[in-house]
Amino acid sequence: MSETTDGQKTTLKMMTGAPVPAPAEPLYATGAPAPVVQPGTEMVTVTIDGKAMQVPKGTNLLEACNHAGADVPFFCYHPGLSSPAVCRQCLVDVKGQPKPVPSCYTPVADKMEVVTASPRVLDIRRQMLEFTLLNHPIDCPICDKAGECTLQKQYFDWDAKYARNDGIKVHKAKHVDIGKHIVLDQERCILCTRCIRVCAEVAQQPELTMAQRGDHEVLTTAPGKRLDNPYSLNTVDVCPVGALTSKDFRFTMRAWELQSTPSVCPGCATGCNVEVHTSREQIYRLVPRENPYVNQYWMCDEGRFTYKRIYDERLGSPVSGGQLVEWDRALEDAAKLLRAAIDQGAGKAEGKIGVVFSAQSTNEDLYALSRLAFDSLGVTRAYVAGRDQGWSDNILVSADKNPNTAGAIAIGGGRLKSLMDLANDLKSGAITTLLVVGEEGVLGDGGTNALPVNKLQALIVLGWRRGPLVNAAHVALPLADWAEIDGTFTNRQGTVQRIRAAVPPAGDALPGWEIVTLLAHRLGMPLEFGGRPATAPPSARAVFLEAREKMAFMKNADWGRTSLPIQLRFANSRG
Ligand code: SF4
Ligand code: SF4
Ligand code: FES
Repeated sequence: MSETTDGQKTTLKMMTGAPVPAPAEPLYATGAPAPVVQPGTEMVTVTIDGKAMQVPKGTNLLEACNHAGADVPFFCYHPGLSSPAVCRQCLVDVKGQPKPVPSCYTPVADKMEVVTASPRVLDIRRQMLEFTLLNHPIDCPICDKAGECTLQKQYFDWDAKYARNDGIKVHKAKHVDIGKHIVLDQERCILCTRCIRVCAEVAQQPELTMAQRGDHEVLTTAPGKRLDNPYSLNTVDVCPVGALTSKDFRFTMRAWELQSTPSVCPGCATGCNVEVHTSREQIYRLVPRENPYVNQYWMCDEGRFTYKRIYDERLGSPVSGGQLVEWDRALEDAAKLLRAAIDQGAGKAEGKIGVVFSAQSTNEDLYALSRLAFDSLGVTRAYVAGRDQGWSDNILVSADKNPNTAGAIAIGGGRLKSLMDLANDLKSGAITTLLVVGEEGVLGDGGTNALPVNKLQALIVLGWRRGPLVNAAHVALPLADWAEIDGTFTNRQGTVQRIRAAVPPAGDALPGWEIVTLLAHRLGMPLEFGGRPATAPPSARAVFLEAREKMAFMKNADWGRTSLPIQLRFANSRG
C-alpha cells in the first residue's frame, strides 16, 4: 500500500509488484515516529515548547508535537485518515494566533512557535474532556475497551476530577446490531467520526453517518445500509472508546489480560502485519499492526478470522497405519517407506518419490524440505500446492489465498510442477511414494477421486488438520501452524516478513523444518545448516540464516530482534 495525502484528503493505492523495504518493527512507544524524510524535501524550522526542530514542510503539527515528546492528546485524529478536527482535544497555542488551534488540522509553517501546555491550553483541554464526558455512560466495568480506551487514558492524564453533572444523562441505544461483525453502543460514542472515515476512505464504502443534533446526535448507519464492508472491523480498532465492539471478541477477555505478539496474517499473499492477542495460551483476536509499506494501519475482516483455523480439526499426534503412535515410531515408519522407494528405484529416489511443497509453509520449512528433496534424495518430481484462488480487491486483499507463494516459487526455483502434473504422474504410476509437507489444497475440490492417492504404495503427509488426505496417509506427522512457530513468509511484493510463535503447538505438533530434519537424520542423510551437522534439529533462525545466504530473494531479509509478548493495557496506539 502507499498513501498519498492531498490536503485533507487521503487516498489509498495498491503497491506495485516492486520489492519494498523490510517491514517496520512493532511500535509500542508513545511518541510519534520520526517523519520519513525523502532527499530533496524542503525543511522548515518549528519551535515546540522552546525546542527548535527541523521537519519537512507541511508536516502535521500534532505529529510534530508528539515527535518532539509533547504528548498532545487526541481523539478524532488518526494518521491513516483525513482530519476533520471535531474533538478539539489537540488544541495548542501558536504564537500570533488569537485562539488555540487544532494541531491535527494545522500544517507546520517555517518559524512557527508552539506551546503545547500553556495554562490556557491545559484549561481548555480539561474543559473539552469534561464536555465529552458530560453524557458518557461510564460503562468501564463492563466495557470491552476498558484498559485500552483513549477516553479513560486522557481523563486520567489530563482531568481526573469528579463529574460536576449531577443531573440525568441523555440516554441512547445500548445494543444496535449494525453489521455482520459489529454491535454499536450509541451512548458510549464520543462522535469522533473516525469509523465513518474508515468506511469512506479505507473500504471506500460510506456506510456510517451522524444523525440528529446537539446532545441527541448519534452515530448510525446511512439510510438503507448496514456496516458490511470487507474492512468493517477496522472501525472497532479506531474507535477510541467502546462504542463499536466486535461480535467475535466482545465479552471474551479484558484488554489487560491480553498479550500481544507481532506476526503476519496468513490469509492471503498480501501479508498484512498483525498483532496476535493471546491469553493463557489461547488466541482471542488478530488486529492490524502498522506497516507503511504493506498494510498501513489496516487488515480485512476475513484475515481477522484466520486464527480460528488454529483450533480447527487439528492433527495433534503422529499416526502410522491408522494408529496413534509416538514420534520415534512414526519417523522410523516414514523413513522405512522412503527407503523402500529408494531401493525400488535401484538406489535412486528420483524415479519413484514425489514431493509436494506448500505455499502455506514458511520459507524455513520450504528451504529445509528443498535440501532433503533436491540435495539429499535427488527427487525430480516436485509439486506446489496451496489454497484455491479467491476474491480480491484494489485495497488489500489478494486473489492468492496463500501467504508464501512467492517463497515457494523462489525456493523451488522452477523445479516445482503443478497439481495437474501430480495427478498425471499418479495416474501413469510414475511415482510410487509421495511425501506431502502441508496438506492444504492438495486434493482440491475433487478429493481423492481427482488425485488418486490410493494408487500410491506409500503416502507420508506432514499435516496441520485432519481431512481426507491426512486420513489416507500411511504415516501422518502433525505440523505446527503459523501462530505456533517462528519463521518468515514472503508476500506478493517479495518482502520477507517475520512470523512469531504466539501460542504453543497443538498437541505434539512440530515445525515443518524440524520434522524434515528429524526425517533426514533417520534416512541417514543428516542435513547441515550453516555448515554445522544437525545432530539435533537446529533452530528456525539457523535455517533462516542459511536460507538467506543461499537464496537471492532473502538476501536483505532480517530475522528481527527477540520480541517478548507485551501486556496490552494502554500499551499501543490503536485507540
Ligand atoms: S463509534 Fe467510535 S469511532 Fe465511531 S464516531 Fe463514535 S466514538 Fe468515534
Ligand atoms: S488482505 Fe490478506 S493478508 Fe491482509 S488481512 Fe486480509 S487476508 Fe490477511
Ligand atoms: S484530534 Fe484534533 S480536533 Fe480531534
